[in-house]
This record gives sequence, structure tokens and C-alpha cells, in this order.
Amino acid sequence: MDLQGGDIQQPGTGGRTAQALAGRRILLGITGSIAAYKAAVLCRLLKTAGAEVRVVMTPLAKQFITPLTMATLSKNPILVEFFDPENGAWNSHVSLGEWADCYLIAPATANTLAKMSCGIADNLLLTTYLSARCPIVVSPAMDLDMYAHPSTQENLQRLAARGVRIIEPAEGELASGLTGKGRMAEPARIAAYVGELLAAEDPEKKKSLQGKRFVVTAGATIEAIDPVRFISNHSSGKMGYAIAGALAARGAQVTLVSGRTSLPTPPGTKRVDVLSAAEMYEAATAAFDDADGAVMCAAVADYTPDTVSETKLKKGDGELCITLRRTRDIAAELGARKGGRLLVGFALETHDEQAHAEAKLAKKNFDFIVLNSLRDAGAGFRGDTNKVTFIDRCGREELPLLTKTEVAERIADKIQSMLN
Ligand code: PMT
Repeated sequence: MDLQGGDIQQPGTGGRTAQALAGRRILLGITGSIAAYKAAVLCRLLKTAGAEVRVVMTPLAKQFITPLTMATLSKNPILVEFFDPENGAWNSHVSLGEWADCYLIAPATANTLAKMSCGIADNLLLTTYLSARCPIVVSPAMDLDMYAHPSTQENLQRLAARGVRIIEPAEGELASGLTGKGRMAEPARIAAYVGELLAAEDPEKKKSLQGKRFVVTAGATIEAIDPVRFISNHSSGKMGYAIAGALAARGAQVTLVSGRTSLPTPPGTKRVDVLSAAEMYEAATAAFDDADGAVMCAAVADYTPDTVSETKLKKGDGELCITLRRTRDIAAELGARKGGRLLVGFALETHDEQAHAEAKLAKKNFDFIVLNSLRDAGAGFRGDTNKVTFIDRCGREELPLLTKTEVAERIADKIQSMLN
């Protein structure tokens, strides 16, 4: 096993997240999964970034990675039992929870997630979860069918609703030999996520947008053709949700106008669900009236069927033509009425990126525009990363491949500096 295990700077982590880990206390929980071997790499990355790491393991986790390995890497004794059978010394879950700046459970099995979701406390890792007051992060790892099972998904949703942060597993080859979604995220990504989280938890940062109100649009719109079919696009909402979360984490009041998605609502935001571009227009323009700014991240349909059939269209022998008419441009409307308020746009391009983005910046009266191109690997729809360039009237700033959470932090930084 290569304990260097990748570099915390990549992909898309940046020195700031590594900095945020320095001197912070991470409690690393390990459960009984084949992915436990990655916890060694993760521990090493956290230590290299200057974090203090203590490790709590479930009894089963010891079958997958030895306490000796984890004690050597963390430079702390490993905690498994409620007390030491040799001398009766008590391992206090309360003080462990109090000690940690972040409790990171990686890998988190379906079994542990289920127990967390219903408050079962039959091992030290779980009692510590129940008493921890710090941010909790879980990185699920399991077989694809276990991950997709409605009970696992319900447990994850319940945990997310309680504020537990979930690092989505990746797709790929699994220990079962099957291929699908369920692989624990790579250690560099997990360490970066924790760094970003702790950076955002900085008490000064938490108040930096207090009193400000923002509208954020996110996700795809859906334009009905008939009761069965629609026109839409690939936006998952991840980028917009990350922005809404980053602004809310700094104390802003955020109205998140969202297309259809299964993402959990970011803590501290008011979510307004919409389907069509027309509905998004109504919700976004209404919320903009008393806002200080807006971030237009949604992928909005530019065209909608001219008429919506009330009944299912039946197939005939020939071709079918659907007449499309233009939708209203929400961003352009907000740009026309913005006055001194801040308006941030996005441009998703496939060619002549810079020219198209600059044209949108001017036409929609954005203060800056976030350009992402489908020609860049890891950028655009659905994934957890994005590669963006900020363009304003003074120039451009190209960012490396970052997680969407970190792109959102950079956007929030820029908004903050423009408002001050
Ligand atoms: O949701 P994810 O899967 O995470 O993907 C993120 C993303 C790729 C959707 C996001 O990063 C992004 O690029 N969003 C904007 C996509 C887009 O539709 O761009 P556009 O170039 O077509 O539109 C330009 C700007 O005008 C955008 O700010 C858009 O929100 C806005 N617009 C467009 C049309 C319209 N009718 N109303 C609008 O407000």
C-alpha cells in the first residue's frame, strides 16, 4: 500500500483547504468495510496537513485494518471498546466528541449509517456520534445495491436533514466484483472536503455575509410537451446548491430557487421548488425584489413548447414537429432591474468559450460571470468537481479543477470582496 496516497492539493483542493486542517482535531471513525484500508491513507493525509488525528474503530473494523497500523499513523492509541478490560479505564465518548473539531466516519458502512439514523449506540463509534457537537462527515462505502437500496437512501436523507455531511461515493469496480456506485471517495477528496468544511466553519467567516440577502437559482428547468414528456437538460443542481450553502454558511439569507433534484436542502437556506422556466422566472424575480444580489446558476430552458398537449401525444407514421417559443431570460431581467445590486451569472459553453461568456456578461449586465466548459474534464454537469474561470470587466481569473464545494467558496469569497 502506498501511504503517500495522493496529494491533498489534488484534485481541486488547493492550499487553503490544507491550511484549514493545520492544528485542527479530527476524530476519524472507521467501520467494517473493505475500504478501511483507505483510512490509512486518509489518516496520513490529514496528519501531513498538520491535523491532530484520533481514531475510533468499530470492533469489526479491526478485521479490515489493524489498530497497530492506525495507531502508528495517527500517533495516538486506537479506541474501540467502551473501557480497557485490562485496567477498567473508561473511553469517554462524551470527551471524544467534545475534543473533535470534526468527526469524520470513513468508511461508513450501510450498517453504521442505519444505526446512526435511528440512534442505536452499541459501540464506541456510535455513542461518540450521538454525543458529538462538532460537524459530522460520513463517507459511505458499500456494494452498489446496498447503496441504492431505499432503506440506505432514506437513512442518508435522514442524516443529511440532521446536518450530517455526506461525501457521495464514487462509481467504479467494487469489492463484490460488480461495478457501480458505492466506492468510498478517494482519501484526497475526503481530506479536501474536511478542510473546506473547517475553513467555512471559521467563526469570522460565518458572519461575513450576515444581513445580506441572496437569490440563487439551481438545477434544470423542465418544459412539458404533454403529461408524459418534457424537454430538460443535465443539470443536477449540485453547483447551485453548493453556492447557496456557501452563502448561507457565511450568515446570508438565501432563497434557493430550485429545479427538480433529489439533493438535500443546504442548511440555512429557504428553498422554493419550481419546474418550468416560467415558474423559475416568477420565483426568482419575486425573491430578487428585496435581495442584495443573485447568483444565476440554473440551466434554464431557452425554448419551451408553444402549446402543451393535455393528453399524451400518440405516435403516427410520419415525423412530429413541436413548435418551440422563447422563454423569458431571468438573468437578463434581473440585470435590467438590478440597480446597485450584485448579479453573478454562469456560462456553460462548448466552444468559443471566452467570447460567448463575455457577450453574456455584457448582455445580461452581470457583475461577473463564471465560465465552465464541457471541453474541460471534470467540469460542468452532474459531477462533484468543476473547472471555472471568473470573468469581469477588469479581466479573468482561471481556477484549477476544484470540488464544487470549493468553487462555491471561491464565488462566495469574490461576492464578499465585491460587496465590501
Ligand atoms: O447543476 P450541476 O449538475 O452541478 O451543473 C452545473 C452547471 C453546469 C449547470 C452550472 O455550472 C452552469 O454552468 N449553469 C448555467 C448553465 C446555463 O444554462 O448557462 P447559459 O450559458 O445557457 O446561461 C447564461 C446565464 O443566464 C446563466 O446564468 C443562466 O442561469 C441564465 N439564464 C439563461 C436562460 C434563461 N432563460 N434565464 C436565465 O437566467
